[in-house]
Amino acid sequence: MIDYDKLAADYAAHRTVHPGVLAELLEAINEQDASRIMEVGCGTGNYIRTIGEGRAVQCVGIDPSEGMLRQARKRAPGIEFLAGTAETLDFDPDFFDLVFSVDVIHHVGDRMAFFRGEERVLRPGGRICTVTDSEDIIRRREPLVRYFPETVDVELRRYPGIPVLEREMVEAGFTGIRESRVEASHSLSIIGPYRDRVFSSLLLISEAAFLRGIARMEEDLARGPIPCVSRYALIWGRAGGPRPPSSGFRG
Ligand SMILES: C[S@@+](CC[C@H](N)C(=O)[O-])C[C@H]1O[C@@H](n2cnc3c(N)ncnc32)[C@H](O)[C@@H]1O
Repeated sequence: MIDYDKLAADYAAHRTVHPGVLAELLEAINEQDASRIMEVGCGTGNYIRTIGEGRAVQCVGIDPSEGMLRQARKRAPGIEFLAGTAETLDFDPDFFDLVFSVDVIHHVGDRMAFFRGEERVLRPGGRICTVTDSEDIIRRREPLVRYFPETVDVELRRYPGIPVLEREMVEAGFTGIRESRVEASHSLSIIGPYRDRVFSSLLLISEAAFLRGIARMEEDLARGPIPCVSRYALIWGRAGGPRPPSSGFRG
């Protein structure tokens, strides 16, 4: 079990938006003239804050970690950050134009409750976007896998596969399911994010494996920056198909 309260300060210091994910979200927002947007599992609020900046839109971020929410509120006082979980989205039906989550779905215990909840709070035609890692992305994480190959098995056990997610989204009532991929290259010149274990998979491997990887990374960094590629899979869908007969929501 990962304690996100403890990670909050490191997340605020090191975690940034992926430009490809942000670009796709903004394109969807512009395309449908979205004015009510929610990020589920917003962490320190990087994505929802950037979306809210300079736009006349109502933005809501929810997260179960008070530590994450504290950081988020400090950085974007104008945005509504609320305590809550993906499984219990307590909002009016047909309210949001876009509901998205980034790097959260592998933490969600009851995904069907989450997807059904998203379908319920979205207006008909509103869009869902689930941003996650596919199996091939997990196997090709660069440089994580080069230095910490032990993370692969851990992550393959944690992350639901894309076909599973797509099936569940359809079962929850979403239509027009499609997947897109984004990729961005950058270079790493400080070891801080890895030493601070900003990547939660580093909390799930043995101490020996972690220290081995850190030592090799330090050696390579002494010779110069390390090339990195960050990839994500985005699964999109639209609300407003026939509602499932028993949705099991509160409210
Ligand atoms: C890897 S972080 C991603 C944060 C943010 N989306 C980002 O990309 O910067 C995962 C986040 O999911 C949150 N989380 C964990 N379990 C959750 C759940 N059941 N419902 C909603 N959020 C959850 C954690 O508190 C944490 O902030």
